[in-house]
Amino acid sequence: MLGRLGFDSAALDAKRLTSFALGLSDLEIATREGEAVDEAGAQRVVELLQRRLTGESVARIVGEREFYGLAFGLNAATLEPRPETEMLVDLAIAALPGGGRLLDLGTGTGAIAIAVLVNRPDATALATDLSAEALAAASGNAARHGVEDKIAFLQGSWFEPVGASPHPNPPLKGEGTPSSLGQSSGLNVEPKPLPLEGRGWGGGKPQPDTDLFDLIISNPPYITSAVVETLAPEVRDFDPRLALDGGPDGLAPYRIIAAEAARYLSPGGRVLVEIGYDQGAAVTALFVAAGFGNVAVHRDLAGLDRVISAHHINGITRTAR
Ligand SMILES: C[S@@+](CC[C@H](N)C(=O)[O-])C[C@H]1O[C@@H](n2cnc3c(N)ncnc32)[C@H](O)[C@@H]1O
Repeated sequence: MLGRLGFDSAALDAKRLTSFALGLSDLEIATREGEAVDEAGAQRVVELLQRRLTGESVARIVGEREFYGLAFGLNAATLEPRPETEMLVDLAIAALPGGGRLLDLGTGTGAIAIAVLVNRPDATALATDLSAEALAAASGNAARHGVEDKIAFLQGSWFEPVGASPHPNPPLKGEGTPSSLGQSSGLNVEPKPLPLEGRGWGGGKPQPDTDLFDLIISNPPYITSAVVETLAPEVRDFDPRLALDGGPDGLAPYRIIAAEAARYLSPGGRVLVEIGYDQGAAVTALFVAAGFGNVAVHRDLAGLDRVISAHHINGITRTAR
């Protein structure tokens, strides 16, 4: 049925949904093929297959998706982390100095920051998202992967919850701060106070109001508002719009990140942002205009522009204003 309706992965999808509905492992499904299924079990299988037929992905139905070899819990407010974003994790792991502090903007499931921390136990992270519901999933994922003591989650728009930034670095260049997208309730999803001791070298979590970051990463929404409407139903109808829509030209979040990042970076720190395949030149221009150095476009395995890296060059910071 799924195959006839054009789902490429029909057989695999049906197997995964059947095992999930019946609470069986893939091995059990394979070895107990001849057994009868009771009526309640059969009904559960049918219900899940019907959801799949509406375009809902298998990952959403089972409530989790694998990313960087780790399973991430999803909810209605989280984007499903995509394989192409794993490149950002590779670059972040390589870019972070020992004991480095990471800021992940628009963390969603927390996939990027958590995958980095699992692979870099010396690092610590702060992660923000406008959606409290997404942060609830991220917080659960951090605990699931044993990094909850290394990461703090804050709700709000981009840098806003990170603090007023008493940091010595002004924005590198430009006419000031673009207004943030959306509204923040200011709710700190993790209300317990952050530990003050043992900062750096894998110690306590970064402190929102005082710490500079060695690396800022983001996979922001970057699809133009008009194109969001034309996406495949599996994405358009099930991934949250807040995670997709980058404004009229798809660049709104990059304008904020490029303009503000220097305030939060330690000298020599870096920014890594995922981009759409056709945004390399435009996003490069934003970081160059903001005074960053060594701005480079990284291509993915398909040869498409995928990530922009930019260095906070201290000398430029000082002369830019
Ligand atoms: C493309 S998704 C990326 C999610 C996750 N980092 C990943 O790579 O799978 C963009 C994320 O940005 C969040 N977001 C959208 N607008 C935001 C804003 N103004 N401030 C902070 N986060 C925002 C969305 O809720 C969503 O989680």
